[in-house]
Amino acid sequence: MSREERADTLEAEALHVRAGSFPAVRGVSARFQAGQFAAVIGPNGAGKSTLLRALLGLTRPESGEVRLLGRPLRAWPRPERARTLAYLAQGEALPPDARVRDVVALGRGAGAWKWGLIPTRPWTQADEDAVTGALTRTDTLRFEDRRVSELSGGERQRVSLARALATQPRFLLLDEPTNHLDLAYQLDVIRHVRCEAAGGLGVVAVLHDLGLAARADRLLLLHQGRVLAQGTPEEVLTPPHLHAAYGLRARVTRDAGRLLVIPED
Ligand SMILES: Nc1ncnc2c1ncn2[C@@H]1O[C@H](COP(=O)(O)OP(=O)(O)OP(=O)(O)O)[C@@H](O)[C@H]1O
Ligand SMILES: [Mg+2]
Repeated sequence: MSREERADTLEAEALHVRAGSFPAVRGVSARFQAGQFAAVIGPNGAGKSTLLRALLGLTRPESGEVRLLGRPLRAWPRPERARTLAYLAQGEALPPDARVRDVVALGRGAGAWKWGLIPTRPWTQADEDAVTGALTRTDTLRFEDRRVSELSGGERQRVSLARALATQPRFLLLDEPTNHLDLAYQLDVIRHVRCEAAGGLGVVAVLHDLGLAARADRLLLLHQGRVLAQGTPEEVLTPPHLHAAYGLRARVTRDAGRLLVIPED
């Protein structure tokens, strides 16, 4: 891989990460590319969230390295890193009394929320444009004046996505962004992140639903902290891999160009 190509990646190299005292990630090497939608899959406890947190620099690896745009993550100044990597945590709580536009402005480092937005730096037109852009792309502009408490779960998730996109990051890491959403909203979130990846963003999403994961460009299948398989959905979602990871006998078929995983019980 050339220098230029490497410059557009988020990489884990022989990464070992502990969660508390537990060796949750055990020698993971993976490369995520800007402009691609990658899904991290694997059973409960496989190390997916721990890997994501290490890729974000929130957990320091025991050994191995994370490289962002070709440069070790630990060499990045924190503010620059925070602008380059955005995170949508699992079950992220938004301030219920906050209005949608203010929540999205938080993604620009607009300030802290305490019964109102407390600015931490001067607000610019570029900030305003980034917020409007993120609201528009997530189809949340039409309820920008509503309070978070007045939104459905799916709408709230799109606001969280807008908050992350307002940062204008190079990579967006999402931990189970479709949890607790109905099927239509799940597909909606995936459609939005696919669209952002097509626009050049690197997307890394932890997903449990293999049907949704099949819509990603690349998959990383973890099992007991190790990489069991990585590649295209066709390469990763095979009956032997699914059996090894989930202890599940499944058929994998194609319907209208999409992969379908059908568990056999
Ligand atoms: N603070 C902790 N102390 C001890 N063990 C932990 C701690 N946090 C996580 N673990 C363990 O590390 C392993 C990996 O956890 P992790 O949260 O990364 O898994 P995951 O793949 O995200 O699982 P899930 O699909 O359930 O979210 C699990 O077995 C978990 O019990
Ligand atoms: Mg998890």
